[in-house]
Amino acid sequence: MRATFRRGTPADTSADTLVVLLFDGESAPADLDSALGGRLGKLLESGEAKTANKRTALLHTDGAIAAARVITVGLGKREDFDSERARNAAAVAYRQAADASAQAIAIAVPEGTGQATTGAALTEGVLLAAYRFDRYKTKADDDDSQRAEQLEIVSNEDIGQAIAESEIIVACQNAARDLQNLPSNVLTPAELADYAIGRAGEVEALEAEVLELEQLEARQMGGLLSVAKGSHQQPKLIVLRYDGGGTATLGLVGKAVTFDTGGISIKPSSKMEEMKFDMSGGAAAIEATVAIAKLGLPVKLLTVVPAAENMPSGHATRPGDIVTISNGKTVEINNTDAEGRMILADALVYAASEGADRIIDLATLTGAIIVALGSTYAGLFSNDDDLSAAIAAAGDSTGELTWRMPLHADFKELTKGKFADLTNAASARKASSAYAASFLEEFVDEKPWAHLDIAGTAWSQDGRDYVGNGATGWGVRLLVELARGMSA
Ligand code: BES
Ligand code: MN
Ligand code: ZN
Repeated sequence: MRATFRRGTPADTSADTLVVLLFDGESAPADLDSALGGRLGKLLESGEAKTANKRTALLHTDGAIAAARVITVGLGKREDFDSERARNAAAVAYRQAADASAQAIAIAVPEGTGQATTGAALTEGVLLAAYRFDRYKTKADDDDSQRAEQLEIVSNEDIGQAIAESEIIVACQNAARDLQNLPSNVLTPAELADYAIGRAGEVEALEAEVLELEQLEARQMGGLLSVAKGSHQQPKLIVLRYDGGGTATLGLVGKAVTFDTGGISIKPSSKMEEMKFDMSGGAAAIEATVAIAKLGLPVKLLTVVPAAENMPSGHATRPGDIVTISNGKTVEINNTDAEGRMILADALVYAASEGADRIIDLATLTGAIIVALGSTYAGLFSNDDDLSAAIAAAGDSTGELTWRMPLHADFKELTKGKFADLTNAASARKASSAYAASFLEEFVDEKPWAHLDIAGTAWSQDGRDYVGNGATGWGVRLLVELARGMSA
């Protein structure tokens, strides 16, 4: 679906479906209502069109304007309005329009709201709601035989740039969702690396480099190598560099385990198929980098994505094995299912040594963070209050919520190994998300760093209107927003 912008009045749209958003206690926009011969006002007065949040009504225009129908969506009280409401309302409108077999949808940005911000949020809501992963369906499902292809955002202010930028960002977020959805027999570490090279080829200022097995061995990346050992798929360290100017380099690190069986510490088979999404952090890091580069934001990025498949086999790492990470620290592997921290360790060392001044990692790291925060918040761990606050603020504005979690000396104690410097899994089953974060901290060379545990948010179960259930592409918009803030 494509988004366009038109400066003008809603009634003039050539789309077949016009969406009007209505606040509590307010009358219909006067010019539209008069173009419609008072039909909209009557619908509101009769109570058929409701202004409560997310309530919808359908009005046939009978030729009064070019659009065949008007869909109203309530926004509730004006003082409760924010971008998240706009995203959800747009998604609700999209579904109503799709049910009415709309081909093109126009949405009028409600007056009295920040036109650029609201217009961007409406664009996000529709384009994210319209996302499907159906490339492996050889026949169309019944419900999507008719699919709207055009979105027009209408405002009386010139917000064309905001809409165009929003379209770029959402396309990257939807590309991240594709990567999450792709099955592990298709999206291997090698495929992800090729994909990243292809993406970098789309933007001049973006460079990709892939470190192959021999280079990983030369750099003694024992964490990444130990995880990949059980698999026929070779590990890759995917590196993207973007130079948009500015002085400091932001490091982005994303876990990309293309399939996590648990290894020799094998997972139960129930729902194991969902572990194809264990590369969600890597997908978000890559796609956020592409979005930032396409927008030409004046920041420097160093993006590092360790990619491997975690399999049991005769070559696999055993519980009790001791490996050395590229910074020389030794780790006793007490659970081969705690593989994310092992590949991230080498990636964090690489990012810190290759010039990142601050580092943010994203990883589907622990099941415990799902128990704690569901798919509503990502766990945010950081050794730096400013970085942590900037990430939380960016997420508040994009609707990707984070919750700050603690780092504490007690958790550090849990990371100490019996026979090596560290252990990758504590024997005590407690504070396992915080323990994992403390483990990662050992590899950031004391740089300002934040860890986002996205095991819950990357794959939604709360059915939010605009992303629904399943792959969310969580983190792409947040990181773009953060980069925007850094360059402002
Ligand atoms: N990828 C998983 C985390 C995960 C689990 C994400 C369930 C989504 C749903 C990670 O590699 C893992 O297996 N973590 C273990 C660590 C434990 C063995 C210390 C966990 O959280 O159970
Ligand atoms: Mn695991
Ligand atoms: Zn994992």
